[in-house]
Amino acid sequence: MANLATLFLLFSSLLSSLYAVQAMPHKHWPSGGSTRFYDFKVQTLRVTKLCNTKEIVTVNKIFPGPVVYAQEDDRIIVTVTNETPYNVTIHWHGVRQKLSCWFDGPSYITQCPIQAGQSFTYEFTMVKQKGTFFWHAHVSWLRATVYGALIVYPKTGVPHPFKHPYEEHIVILGEYWLKDVVQLEKQVLASGGGSPPADAFTINGHPGPNYNCSSNDVYKIDVVPEKTYMLRLINAGLNMENFFTIANHKMTIVEVDAEYTKPFTTDRVMVGPGQTINVLVTADQPIGIYSMAMGPYMSAQNVSFQNISSIAYFNYLGAATNSISLPAKLPSFNDNLSVKTVMDGLRSLNQVSVPKEIDMTLFVTVGLNVNKCKSKTPQQNCQGPNNGTFAASMNNFTFVKPPISVLEAYYKNIEGQFTEDFPGAPLQFYDFVDGAPNNAPNNTQALNGTKTKVIEYGTNVQIIFQDTGTVSTENHPIHLHGYSFYVIGFGTGNFNIRTANFNLVDPPYMNTIGVPVGGWAAIRFVADNPGVWFMHCHIDVHQSWGLGTVLIVKNGVGELETLPHPPVDLPQC
Ligand code: C2O
Repeated sequence: MANLATLFLLFSSLLSSLYAVQAMPHKHWPSGGSTRFYDFKVQTLRVTKLCNTKEIVTVNKIFPGPVVYAQEDDRIIVTVTNETPYNVTIHWHGVRQKLSCWFDGPSYITQCPIQAGQSFTYEFTMVKQKGTFFWHAHVSWLRATVYGALIVYPKTGVPHPFKHPYEEHIVILGEYWLKDVVQLEKQVLASGGGSPPADAFTINGHPGPNYNCSSNDVYKIDVVPEKTYMLRLINAGLNMENFFTIANHKMTIVEVDAEYTKPFTTDRVMVGPGQTINVLVTADQPIGIYSMAMGPYMSAQNVSFQNISSIAYFNYLGAATNSISLPAKLPSFNDNLSVKTVMDGLRSLNQVSVPKEIDMTLFVTVGLNVNKCKSKTPQQNCQGPNNGTFAASMNNFTFVKPPISVLEAYYKNIEGQFTEDFPGAPLQFYDFVDGAPNNAPNNTQALNGTKTKVIEYGTNVQIIFQDTGTVSTENHPIHLHGYSFYVIGFGTGNFNIRTANFNLVDPPYMNTIGVPVGGWAAIRFVADNPGVWFMHCHIDVHQSWGLGTVLIVKNGVGELETLPHPPVDLPQC
């Protein structure tokens, strides 16, 4: 695959230099980048897994979907044609979309969905970005099967800051459902209760031998003894955070969320939905077949979850094909310490320029709520705790998606679609972690709204995320669109400015931060990308319940600080 990748680069730079002539890049895109064209046909595919045949939604009838390859500063143009009956959008997770917010993809935030039979062309540039990204559907729960890797190589001749691996492999963690996932979301929301667990965890779409009828539905990497491999781990799963480990092998983390880190060696990693981690693994063990395992990390109380691990094989050349694979030892599902240990070890590779003077601090609580049952048929619709309905919120506001996209409403000054009063702090302060004053069923309600926070161009922003125990404390993978941010600190308990320790020297630069269970995390970034940016929990059921808000970053001065006009084929609602 390493050789393949090199070949690809040679070949595609040849090809794309041909294409680039016709592509007419917008005048302020960095010159020197090539243009990569892709055609995504969203199509259903009949697949048999777990002894069950069903139609899933895919891109180009491939599952996981096709890999998009590019180099730093390349322009990527993907025409998405929707040949399914479902609404579709594609989000390019981790791509900062500099001056290209229209192509970001979250439904009802930056665009209306691409309806059945319609198409939309996404165009964006990987401005100063490289590494492991992924793309996924950003509408209903279609991400369950509509996802794939987006791999961006350094510019030609620029080496990685570590010894070039012999080969690299994409390892996408997922969750597979036998039910129709679009229906499933509707049913969960209508029930007022929690989501049933996935029917299987998958590694590159394969559940592996622990599941029924899956002993041959296994992903496998063939390795040459003594060689070093880079695994590009991506968690595309819907509702679960996951541990990943390899039997008897150490992993060295070298990149997180498509930014290099100082090498950090560990036995296990936790990958939350929306996170990507590159690890180096050396095949330095006796010849054999070793399990790579993906299992649950569940930090909340009283949630049912899939507990069968998905297994893939790290298969040494020369191992007897009938030999039994060595079992991998996953941490227990609630091993918060393993999560913290790796987080503590994450550092940007080099010193970075963290904003020091802060212009705006937002204090944002993240958590679940239980709303009072309003249904006339409570047995059907109020299956949450204490006969209420589940909700989720930031600063106790449940985000409700508007009927047209926030970006379109903002750009065209269409009134009544959203408000600009998302509060910079919760309206009430209390002991968020242990003293939730609103133990169900008393006063756990959140208020509904489409509230946004407007930020002037160039503002140095700090956000403190605070987990709440209103229903149960839980690790939430909070993702911000349009930016990467420095994770300058995190801890357990309620945030306390006097005791909080900030790393302003070499904090990791991420796009999704797992806010520790019953704890807090602090991030900083410069608001230098105008647009409408979704900030939400990447656990889909939490997002469906409203765990999100929108940051609107205003234009600055001049063309390089101004969001261009919308594309002509922008889908209509
Ligand atoms: Cu990968 Cu808004 O998400």
